[in-house]
Amino acid sequence: MLRGNVGRIAAAGHCDVVPATPEAVLKAALLIRNGGLVAFPTETVYGLGSHASDDEAVLSLFAAKGRPYWNPLIVHVDSIVSATALVDLEERSLVLARENWPGPLTIVARRRSGCSVSRLATAGLETLAVRVPDHPVALALLTTLGSPIVAPSANLSGLTSPTTAAHVADSLSKVVDLILDGGSCRVGLESTVIDLSGPHAILLRPGGVTTEKIEKLIGPLALAGSRTESAYRSPGMLTRHYAPGRPLRLNAHDVRPGEVLLGFGRVPGATLNLSQQADVEEAAANLFHMLRALDRPDVTAIAVSPVPSLGLGGAINDRLRRAAADNAESVGYSSTRLVPRL
Ligand code: TXA
Ligand code: MG
Repeated sequence: MLRGNVGRIAAAGHCDVVPATPEAVLKAALLIRNGGLVAFPTETVYGLGSHASDDEAVLSLFAAKGRPYWNPLIVHVDSIVSATALVDLEERSLVLARENWPGPLTIVARRRSGCSVSRLATAGLETLAVRVPDHPVALALLTTLGSPIVAPSANLSGLTSPTTAAHVADSLSKVVDLILDGGSCRVGLESTVIDLSGPHAILLRPGGVTTEKIEKLIGPLALAGSRTESAYRSPGMLTRHYAPGRPLRLNAHDVRPGEVLLGFGRVPGATLNLSQQADVEEAAANLFHMLRALDRPDVTAIAVSPVPSLGLGGAINDRLRRAAADNAESVGYSSTRLVPRL
């Protein structure tokens, strides 16, 4: 494979944000083919993509995000057929895939022997997380490249996921080769992650497809259980995550001195409102964007109105809890000590 010089480009701080035209998508596919890193829009959040089989590119991706490399990446493919080349999709997985792909659902399944995805991308696990994104730019990139792309959310590890190209540029412009601008992400929250590699279907991360919809298709989901078990099954699920720089106060019914209020529904005194109509889909699409907008030096804390845990409200509350959590493990999670030096 012809190698791109990712290190040189990153060191020079050179990165274009370009509208996602067909020409730009072709350029992006060639960069990835040559070992580069490209940020691209999906329906959930922007992803930071590299070639899934290129060890060196995968290492540079972990380094760019400051992501610990024990935290495996999601493999993006263009179709169910492409997914079946990488993982064993048993009956429940096929039911979910047929109903939800392309879409915000990630399935963890057993890796097939001969699967070409870099072992570095999956922390050496015998499973692989795979999804087909529902975004014309992401799909065009995948079909143009003709190979799977590994892509975490295009933010520094542990911080709020990006839902616009400008968010990506804010933190990663020095370390990516190209940012494809496809506008704001429709869903605004990451995909739902379901582990179907064993006898029980386990919800590892609530996200863009509601738990209710999944349970209608394949029956009740198990939860990952204890914190240790959850971290073991899905290493990215440590508590603090998606976090802005200011503390968050959840289920707030008032605004205290120095705080700004992120409202939901018709609440007085909100600086920004996730959804005046109390619509959880609208709130999900606004969540990360508004958390970023309120993450200002003059603010001591962000108070957030209660959001009901119905539909996408479950995933919203999951992200809010993780953003509000304050624990020692968060230090380890975002530590660049765990990332190989390139
Ligand atoms: O919507 C999304 O899923 C976005 C877009 C870009 O596709 N991607 C995303 O990736 O959110 P990331 O890396 O931020 O989160 C992936 C999650 C992590 O919690 C990781 O631990 C988990 O998926 N994961 C990946 N591979 C896994 C595996 N084999 N077993 C269990 N969990 C896995
Ligand atoms: Mg992420």
